[in-house]
Amino acid sequence: MTSYQNILRHLKDHQYCWLITGVAGFIGSNLLQALLKLNQRVVGLDNFSTGYRNNLEQIKELVGEEAWRNFNFLEGDIRQLEVCRDACKGVDYVLHEAALGSVPRSIQDPIRTNENNISGFLNLLVASRDAPVRRFIYAASSSTYGDHPDLPKIEAVIGRPLSPYAVTKYVNELYAEVFARCYGMGSIGLRYFNVFGPRQDPHGAYAAVIPQWIAALIRNKTLYINGDGETSRDFCFIENVIQANLLAALTENPDAVNQIYNVAINERTSLNQLYEMMRTLLLEKFPHLQHHRPEYVEFREGDVRHSQADISKAVRMLGFAPTHRIDEGLKQALDWYITHLASESGDTK
Ligand SMILES: NC(=O)c1ccc[n+]([C@@H]2O[C@H](COP(=O)([O-])OP(=O)(O)OC[C@H]3O[C@@H](n4cnc5c(N)ncnc54)[C@H](O)[C@@H]3O)[C@@H](O)[C@H]2O)c1
Repeated sequence: MTSYQNILRHLKDHQYCWLITGVAGFIGSNLLQALLKLNQRVVGLDNFSTGYRNNLEQIKELVGEEAWRNFNFLEGDIRQLEVCRDACKGVDYVLHEAALGSVPRSIQDPIRTNENNISGFLNLLVASRDAPVRRFIYAASSSTYGDHPDLPKIEAVIGRPLSPYAVTKYVNELYAEVFARCYGMGSIGLRYFNVFGPRQDPHGAYAAVIPQWIAALIRNKTLYINGDGETSRDFCFIENVIQANLLAALTENPDAVNQIYNVAINERTSLNQLYEMMRTLLLEKFPHLQHHRPEYVEFREGDVRHSQADISKAVRMLGFAPTHRIDEGLKQALDWYITHLASESGDTK
């Protein structure tokens, strides 16, 4: 039996209280769905800056009335310490996802990014320390590798940050480490690499590539590739991220705590390959894609050229065993994409 299966079994018999910040966002709402299905109690915090009420409505429908009763939603902002203190009351495990994502957004608006991603993070860390919670798991980022050229990325070797967003995510790691040293707090940082799956927002200038492209393909719109298309990423399906969070929260290995882990697959897919993969997958249902071709535009500022994770640390220390490679993830999410991204407005709003 894998470590993850053990944890799923443990959770079936033990009910804990979890705080998910950013619960109305992409990753937060998927964590919510997983935990409610496991009969866990969840407090959710969100200010809807980039998340959607409709994501919560979708989860309500997916898990049913009974499981939904285990969910307590607080609309509020992590930039306010008192809000964080309220949210942490009676909580066992914190899964901290709330932040302003996107490299270009941070270049556009570094101050707001800093307030949400650093001050907000610090508030939640203080509130979690004082509650006290059992463990604090937080969303770190592969952007922390910055300009370091080595591939695959190993946790101990990072470069200089390439964007304000990357600075904020690295500062999170430094604060978590210092809180372990000064206050004995137990935390784990998960450096996510390009996560994708249902409920990822396809809208706006800061949308992630997969939902944005799938929406363009389904609607037969122009699809833009930044640069020559040979930029590559280690795309990680959301199920693997859920697994990493639960393993991190519940690991009984004391050496595994107060560590940072890469969360990805250890595979590299170029944007050109991703485009072809998605076009082929959708072709059967959308014959117009036979003649669809992408348009190449400028490289994007602040982007790293290649990204691929060495995941051996998470495998060794947490028992991480990704269940979905990129093609499997795309296939699994396909129905959701088709249902929700087919119309011009989508229905994430
Ligand atoms: N999606 C990825 O590929 C990826 C990669 C690396 C790291 N991350 C990190 O994972 C986390 C979740 O990302 P996501 O893709 O789900 O983004 P998302 O934008 O869908 O979700 C973030 C959620 O946080 C909420 N939020 C933002 N600021 C808040 C505040 N001040 N108070 C309360 N709520 C607030 C938003 O309303 C939103 O619901 C973020 O910390 C992000 O930086 C994501």
